[in-house]
Parts: sequence; structure tokens; C-alpha cells
Amino acid sequence: MVFRNTVPGFRNPSKAWSTLGGVSVAVFPGSFDPITLGHLDIVRRGATLFDSVIIGVARNAAKKALLELDDRLRLARLAVADLPNVTVEAIPGLLVDFCREREASTIVKGLRSGSDLDDEVPMAAMNRHLGGVETVFVPASGALLHVASTLVRDVARYGGDISDLVTPEVATAVYAALGTRP
Ligand code: PNS
Repeated sequence: MVFRNTVPGFRNPSKAWSTLGGVSVAVFPGSFDPITLGHLDIVRRGATLFDSVIIGVARNAAKKALLELDDRLRLARLAVADLPNVTVEAIPGLLVDFCREREASTIVKGLRSGSDLDDEVPMAAMNRHLGGVETVFVPASGALLHVASTLVRDVARYGGDISDLVTPEVATAVYAALGTRP
């Protein structure tokens, strides 16, 4: 394909987003309260686009988390243990500062719907404004369009089955935090 042969770095898709010859690092940020199979689908696909992906677990000041930050980090690490180019870290402050410290030029986000896009576009613009960091949106897989942390928590809160929405370790942690069971 002409495009592949003429765009520097595009021959190797993993270099598509990097400075030629550099290492492409992307951050996949979120609250991950909890991490879901939808998140994991985006991480897996992101890990084929970039040399390395850092899952950045943020404290979202606007939301009271169900799971403690340490639990969210532990569960995310367990879930991506088989992906050698994926790591998990806490984001202590601004996402753009974290990206700069880790030399990540790109933020990866999943998109399930138009309302996700409405939420994400201003954040992407702000992160570009603040730190020159671009955001790449990866469309959610069709079978996972309904999988959101908020819905997972709500289903589990009323004793619903979340076993095909999250990993077994996450399901155990969520039921324990809510004091419920399926
Ligand atoms: O999973 P969420 O809660 O939708 O993720 C939101 C998150 C964590 C990506 C966002 O709140 C964030 O980037 N927080 C870090 C602080 C920051 O940089 N805020 C400005 C974002 S434009």
C-alpha cells in the first residue's frame, strides 16, 4: 500500500505514533473502579499499536471510588500479567505531567458511544492544550459496548452476575467491597 511505504515509521505499526526511531509509549488512563473486560480489550489492542502501554490509574476527585487505589492497581496488574509491554501505575496528579515524566506522547482511550465521545473530546483537547499530548480513540468491540465500570458496580450492588464482565479476581473484590454476592 502506498501509504505504508511513504509514511516514515508506518512500515512497523508499533512505530506509527512515535518519533522516527524512538520508542512509542502510550498511557491508557482511567479510574478503573473496577477494571473491566472492556478496558482489557482496549489495552490489548493498544499494546499492538505502541511499543509500550502504561495503564494509569487515577484518583478521580469528582467520584468516590468503590475500590481503594491499591486494589485497583493490584487488580489491573493481575489482569495484564500476560502482556509484556503493559505496566500499571498510579497517576498522582495531572495526566499530562504523568505523560511527560514517562515520555509518553499519546493517550489511548476506548469509545463505546456518542456520549463517551462527548465526554472524551474536551478532555483530549485539554490534554493537548496543557501538554501537547494527542489522544487516540479505539472503538470498543461490539460485544463489549455495554461494559462500563459504573454498570458493573450497579449490577453487583444488587447481587447480579458480573462474571462475564470482569476477571474473577475483580468480581471477588467488587462483591467484597459491596458486601453482596451473586
Ligand atoms: O475512568 P474515568 O473516571 O472516566 O477517567 C477519567 C480520568 C482519570 C482519565 C481523568 O479524570 C483524568 O485524566 N484524571 C487525571 C487528572 C487530570 O489530568 N485531569 C484533567 C483531565 S483533562
